[in-house]
This record gives sequence, C-alpha cells and structure tokens, in this order.
Amino acid sequence: MASSAGEMAPAARTCPATEEERRLIAHATLLDPTVHARPRTFYDAMRKLDPVHYDEQLDMYLVSRFEDIQTIQQDPITFSVNKGYHNQQAKGFAAEFREILERDGGGYFPDAIMSDPPYHTRIRKLMENAFTAHRVRELEPRIEAVVAALIDAIADKGTMDAMRDFAIPLTTRIICEQLGLDLDMKDNIQLWSTAVTAQIGRMQDGAEMRAHARQICNLQQYLIAKMKARQAAPREDMISDIVHAKDGDGDGDGEGAMLTFAEALSLIRALLVAGNETTATALGNLVYILCTEPDIARLLHASADDDRLLNRFVEELLRIEPPVRALSRMTTRAVELGGKYLPEGAHLLLMYASANDQPDIFPCPRHFDLQRKNIVRHVSFGGGVHRCVGAALARMEIKVAARALVRRFDNFRLAVAADELRYLPTVATRTLERLPIMFDQRA
Ligand code: HEM
Repeated sequence: MASSAGEMAPAARTCPATEEERRLIAHATLLDPTVHARPRTFYDAMRKLDPVHYDEQLDMYLVSRFEDIQTIQQDPITFSVNKGYHNQQAKGFAAEFREILERDGGGYFPDAIMSDPPYHTRIRKLMENAFTAHRVRELEPRIEAVVAALIDAIADKGTMDAMRDFAIPLTTRIICEQLGLDLDMKDNIQLWSTAVTAQIGRMQDGAEMRAHARQICNLQQYLIAKMKARQAAPREDMISDIVHAKDGDGDGDGEGAMLTFAEALSLIRALLVAGNETTATALGNLVYILCTEPDIARLLHASADDDRLLNRFVEELLRIEPPVRALSRMTTRAVELGGKYLPEGAHLLLMYASANDQPDIFPCPRHFDLQRKNIVRHVSFGGGVHRCVGAALARMEIKVAARALVRRFDNFRLAVAADELRYLPTVATRTLERLPIMFDQRA
C-alpha cells in the first residue's frame, strides 16, 4: 500500500460520512497546513458530502470528483483558464505585483499559454512545435548520463537530501539544457521557479510576494538578454525555436504570424518553471515512497529491466502521488456543476489529487497496483486542451531516475521522522521542501 505517512484507509463512496468528515466540511480549509500535509481525508469528505465545496478562506470552489473535473476539461470556454489563472496570480497583491514587474522586470508579461481557445489553440501549437515527442525520445541517453553523475556523487555517502541533491539538480539541468540556459544559473533557476509558482500558491504574505516579485524581475531580465542573443544568432535550443516560431511550422501550411516578444518570454518562463518544480516534486514523491513502502521499492526493482512495467510504474506513481494537486478555472457564465449552482465569475480549484483517489474510478485507490486496467486514466497531467505539454519529458525523467536509483541502491529509508517533513506552502503542488534519506549500495 502506498499512502502518505499517517493517513487513514479510504472510505468507499457509499459509506456514511464519519464525524471527522462532517467536521472537515464544516470547518477545514485547504490553507490549513495540517490539511495540506494529509489531505486525503479532506478529499474523501468533499467527494462524499460536498463535491463542489466552497472554501471560505480561499474564496474558491474545490471541485473534487473525477466526473466534474472531466466536465470542466471538456468545456474550456465556460471554465476559463485565462480568468482562473490570472485572478489567482498574486491574489491580494495583484496591482503591486504588476507594478514591480513593470518597473524592475522589463515588463509585465501575462502567461500566453494560460489562455482560452481560440487564442490558446494558436499559442499551444507554437509551443508544441518547440517541444516534440521526437525531441524527448532522443533525450533518454542524456537524462541517463545526468542521473548517473548525480548518483555517483552521492553513492559513497549513503545519505542525501533527495530534493536538493537529486530531484532538483536533475530537473533543473535537463530543462536548462533544453531551453539553452546557463547551467551555472541552476541555484537561481530554482529560486525563480519557486517564486513564480508561489504566485498561484495562495499562501504568501505581502513581504513574501515582494521578495518573490524581485526574483521574477531577475528571471525576466535574464531571459530577455538570452532571447535577444538568440534572435540575433539562433542555436539548437528551445529558446531559439520559440523566438523564431511561426504559425504553420512543420505542417507545410506556410508561414503565419510569429509570437510577439512578450508571448515568447511568457512561454519560455512557463516552460522553465513547469519543467522544473513539477518533475522535481514527482521525483521527491518517488523517493519518499521508496523509503516508506519497501514492497513498492521491491516492485520497482523487479520491474527495472522491463520497459512496459516501468512505464506502468511511473503512471501509478503519478496517480497515487500527483505532483500538481490543484489548478484553477473561472466560470464565464452561470452554470450547474456537480449539483451546485455556480454564478459567473466563480473561482474554482480542480482537485486533481482527489479525482485520482476516487474509489469508483480507481478501485482501492491507495493500493499501488501495476495491473490497474485504467492505469493511464489519472488526471495528474490534466486533460482536454490544457493537458500538460511536457508530459513525455516528465515521464522520461521519472522513468530513467527510478530505474537508476533501484539498480544502484537498496534499503532506502528516511533520515528523519516522517512527521518532520514539510511541504512548500502552496495549494497548487504538494512538494516536499527537503527529503533527508539513507540508503545502501547494491553489491
Ligand atoms: C510530473 C511532472 C508534471 C506534472 C505533474 C504536470 C502537470 C500538469 C498539469 C496538471 C497541467 C494542466 C494544467 C491545467 O489543467 O490548467 C499541465 C500543463 C502544462 N504543463 Fe505540465 N506537468 C509536469 C511536467 C511538465 C514539464 C516537464 C513541462 C515542460 C517542460 C510542463 C509544461 C506544461 C505547460 C506549458 C502546461 C500548460 C498547457 C496548456 O495550458 O495548454 N509540464 N501540467
């Protein structure tokens, strides 16, 4: 069984609600760090008692059922990413945030990919052109080499912080190489990613927002210089592809409009952040499970030479511990969802982690089951027109890392008590801040 430490077994959807579940629905908020650390009881309670639950403190509706999330994904006009994302950004401090970026960050560049069709359709196509599955397949040997070097560096120590020494350096390095950024900026890139993610996290105060905004200014200034250099002299990297991207590339459609500079900058910033934090979170989750679920560690070791099983392992890992647990939408008209009337302008959080945990879709959802018939049905990469553009890269990084870790090491264990582990303060992801572990080398 894979589950976060200390969590209760799942209640079937037909079971009557417990007192604890009623109390959670009446009083709990996603902003509460104790709910954040062990959210599954709250998810169960919402799905059972109030599937589109209004969280007063967040001022958002939490959409917890698989079928309601699917309804939203199939109607990107009624459920707007553009409005949802931009209203969530720097919530409470939006005007000040914008002012800081305009003054010190080269400008305020709204996220072009966080938009709605038909505009989104054009942007998405240009982004995909720079990010083909073909390019990802070619990357496997490179990812293997980076993973091997990271493992070599810690092998003799028998201990590491799996976030700081493994997950973050791996994902930062790969996305830097792909985009064409300088590797010696990796520490900055980590700070920048956290600063951008915090803007939709809803857990920063004014001082933190200003500190994060300063980091984003530095990030933008750095990217602007890189983009200008690639405009003048293109290279074999994604920044070059994006600054020179035109509609119709690769389709034989002929050339159309290019991305504006502001659109291109926002896409590069989005790729940098999305390609970094989320996959590092997934790797942290993997190592946590290896430490706390020895049966699953053995299962992974037994699957390491079988590519099909290994792929299934990655899918089940993503389902059971989704790195992105919730992202937002806003209604553009009054609509009924999950039996609840929502007015125009209702701000929603799509609780992907809850949908993955729904027992009538994924029987025994806490059971790590490689034989699951619908193993790829999870919503960890979202769905519909906004489905994750980097899914192939993320899957590849996780697969290569998982295989290498269990081939070289055994007997993974936490170096601190499970309840000492802390998560980054954001409602969007469930990311371990650090993960001190110990391990033995295989003979
Ligand atoms: C395990 C790692 C990852 C997870 C769990 C993840 C998850 C997601 C999810 C849930 C969405 C849907 C957003 C929504 O519903 O609003 C998404 C979209 C997106 N992801 Fe990922 N992602 C991962 C890795 C990556 C990587 C490696 C990249 C790029 C390098 C990336 C780039 C993007 C972009 C650009 C979008 C926006 C797509 C759109 O709105 O059209 N992601 N991701």
